[in-house]
Amino acid sequence: MPDMQNFNYHNATRYVYGSGEHRNIGYLLKPYVQGRVLLHYGSGSVIRSGLLQAVRNSLAEHGITFVELGGVKPNPSVELVREGIELCRKEDVKLVLAVGGGSVIDSAKGIAVGTPNRGDVWELYSCKGSIPANDPLPVATVLTLPAAGSENSPNTVLSNEKTGRKLGFKHMGLRPVLSIVDPTLFLTLPRTQMAYGACDMMCHIFERYFTNTTQTALTDALAEATMRTIMEQSIILSNDLQNIDAWGQLALSGTVAHNDLLGLGREQSWACHALEHELSAVYDVPHGGGLAVIIPAYIEAVWPYNPGIFAQWACNVMGVQPHRDTAAVVREGIRRLRTWYQLLGLPQTMQELGVPADANFDAMAAAACKVYDREAATPTLAGVHPLTAEEAASIYKVTI
Ligand code: NZQ
Ligand code: ZN
Repeated sequence: MPDMQNFNYHNATRYVYGSGEHRNIGYLLKPYVQGRVLLHYGSGSVIRSGLLQAVRNSLAEHGITFVELGGVKPNPSVELVREGIELCRKEDVKLVLAVGGGSVIDSAKGIAVGTPNRGDVWELYSCKGSIPANDPLPVATVLTLPAAGSENSPNTVLSNEKTGRKLGFKHMGLRPVLSIVDPTLFLTLPRTQMAYGACDMMCHIFERYFTNTTQTALTDALAEATMRTIMEQSIILSNDLQNIDAWGQLALSGTVAHNDLLGLGREQSWACHALEHELSAVYDVPHGGGLAVIIPAYIEAVWPYNPGIFAQWACNVMGVQPHRDTAAVVREGIRRLRTWYQLLGLPQTMQELGVPADANFDAMAAAACKVYDREAATPTLAGVHPLTAEEAASIYKVTI
């Protein structure tokens, strides 16, 4: 088992939390503005809630000039990103402001990295273009949905409808310079989105925690506390979606879950994400819903390769009594995880997710392995056990 690994952690996002803080966007953004701003948003929720108008007013009040591009859809498309890049070049935009959830923020990041760089932006996501020559434009966010953690991550994930692929790109310059997390903005979210978000946050920690690294007591303890908080606050919200305190605690947990604090010194896996992104790409399923189906099957397949970390999770997060029968402890942890998913109303099978039983799971598994292990002759998915494409396909198949 490998000991704590070297790391180099830099997180420069100004993170502003509080009820009503979205009205200060103009004031808070001003120090980062060197010219025109692109105001980027989704398919309507920010118009209906009045948030978009409040942001426009605040920017105008502080003398910030901007152009707008709305219409981002869940599983955001590279097509709109290309449109945004054209607009930013034409209007000489210097900063991209995302007002929305993970999809809007990821689309904004695509525009931010594509604008100052030649070539098609998709090349970066498919890794053909490797490292971009020029740094991305700065990105700022007003978060409307706590889930993906993109408000403090250096990552972006886009879908390409033409190729049927959903791929990520990471660049430290894509960590937002400013993120406003105002829990009053979450009060319009439906219960399903809250549940998808909680499931996604939890998985961002699983991908860092279910690996073979040892001697990471502090990172593990922080991860466990965050997982417990996500479960507690999501249960409160599933009974009371107007609970602002619970939204605030869930949102902070979601940010910490994916800003890599909980990955310090640890190997990381991303196997569940690799498998889910293939599902989202082909069947346009919500990311958190796809994860809810995959995760229990994944844990069941891999826990015997490192029972210790799964038993630690079962006891410290899921509240299982420690016992010398490790297998029984882990199984009880998995049972409690499934119960939490059920309580939140999350899908448990491919059928509930809307993925047909005759989907080409072998091809999706092979593609997932290839994305995460590009160079190997026989690519595998990392984690406590490197999963072959065949093993990965069987994880999909047991959930039909
Ligand atoms: O488009 P609008 O009308 O705004 O509606 C959205 C959308 O339909 C709606 N919504 C957002 N805020 C709302 C609201 N509805 C009512 N009230 C509000 N306050 O919610 C729907 C889903 O939004 P979306 O942004 O797609 O959800 P989420 O934040 O879960 O983001 C998911 C995307 O993030 C990617 C996923 O793959 C997926 O594409 N991820 C990005 C990551 C990153 N950049 O670091 C990491 C994650 O693992 C994830 O892969
Ligand atoms: Zn995720």
